[in-house]
Amino acid sequence: MKKDTKKVFIKNFGCQMNTRDSEVICGLLRTAHYELTANPKEADVVIFNTCSVRQHAEDKAWSEIGRISKAKYSKGQSPSGKVPIIGLVGCMAQNYQEKVFERSPDVGFVVGPSDIDKIPGIIKKLLASKKEGTVPCPPAGRESPKFLERKIWETDGQLRPEEIYHTGFYEDKDHAYVVISEGCSNFCSYCVVPFVRGPLHNRDHKAILKEIEEAVDQGITKITLLGQNVNAYKDGDINFVKLIELVNSIKGLKEFSFITSHPKDTSLDLFRVMADCQKLQKALHLPIQSGADKILKLMNRGYGREDYLKLAKTYRKIVKRGALSTDIIVGFPTETEKDFQETFDLVDEIKFNSAYIFKYSSRLRTQASNMLDDVPKLEKERRHKLILGLQRKISNKLKCYLRKE
Ligand code: 5AD
Ligand code: SF4
Repeated sequence: MKKDTKKVFIKNFGCQMNTRDSEVICGLLRTAHYELTANPKEADVVIFNTCSVRQHAEDKAWSEIGRISKAKYSKGQSPSGKVPIIGLVGCMAQNYQEKVFERSPDVGFVVGPSDIDKIPGIIKKLLASKKEGTVPCPPAGRESPKFLERKIWETDGQLRPEEIYHTGFYEDKDHAYVVISEGCSNFCSYCVVPFVRGPLHNRDHKAILKEIEEAVDQGITKITLLGQNVNAYKDGDINFVKLIELVNSIKGLKEFSFITSHPKDTSLDLFRVMADCQKLQKALHLPIQSGADKILKLMNRGYGREDYLKLAKTYRKIVKRGALSTDIIVGFPTETEKDFQETFDLVDEIKFNSAYIFKYSSRLRTQASNMLDDVPKLEKERRHKLILGLQRKISNKLKCYLRKE
């Protein structure tokens, strides 16, 4: 390692997709000869890879940035005396773009999810201008107010270059996340994902298989296939079921799973392939979001309560001992006690192995943000607590039952 090698610290927020994106960024930085550090106090560059899916996730990131910014200027905080360049990347970067600099003037660069390949170049520019005391090139073709002159933001990218997935950097020695599709075109009315990660883009199936083979060559034996809606995957003749068969036949791979599926794209064929492929984990994460038809329609989910019930029953029949998990949002606009009760009863009826329960929060640009967020906070908390309590009992019972079997 050269003496003047610059150190980068990355803090990740959010879902598995972000975990993988942080790895991709680490891989690109390592290839560009930066050193990764687990200690923000010794870093020349601090990057926050952020999530916008709920308000709570954004609040956490803003407060962490505030904390680092404060430490940046208070003497004695950093033993090396370094004043790091701060970068905000990921979904919040895309959501707020250059407005990030108004809220957090200490942030030096902002990069959206489709532009992460540009991060090493941006850091190089900023470090050089810091050293020379000059202004980095402002983004081409943009009229910038004075305070933006020293800032760089990249949020116009459409597609990620395929090479970013092939740096060979995986956090875990035995397990790798492999992105099969980016973005989402479903536009569920509450969800910010299509706005911050763009429309669904499927990776070339040969490139996906190549990445898995490369990972296996490195000693990795377990894979999780990732996408916002994996079962909508399609690359020519290769749909998700075919992709699963191809992955299952990769030599050296011992185990794999996938996340996340959408009920409207879940087919009998998927259940059959899950039952047949030995290497595929028998676990399905199938977000239901609500048990009330009225709310599902307002959420633009494309299925009803009965459709989901049928799917769950068929899954359990075909995929023996298959685990089923879900996501639920309580307190969506106009959700009445009766609507909530329908969700509660459905959870009781299906008996998910596990469930993530969320309180609705309004997101910028989404269709639901035009509706009045009319379920009071305390009521959302009550509904959240009730379903959480019920699910905990169910999960514990199922665990005991499985242990006895
Ligand atoms: N409010 C609350 N929960 C949300 N989710 C997505 N958007 C929102 C929102 N605006 C939840 C959904 C999704 C999970 C990843 O996050 O349940 O499946
Ligand atoms: Fe959001 Fe719906 Fe796409 Fe999931 S399927 S990422 S909830 S828009």
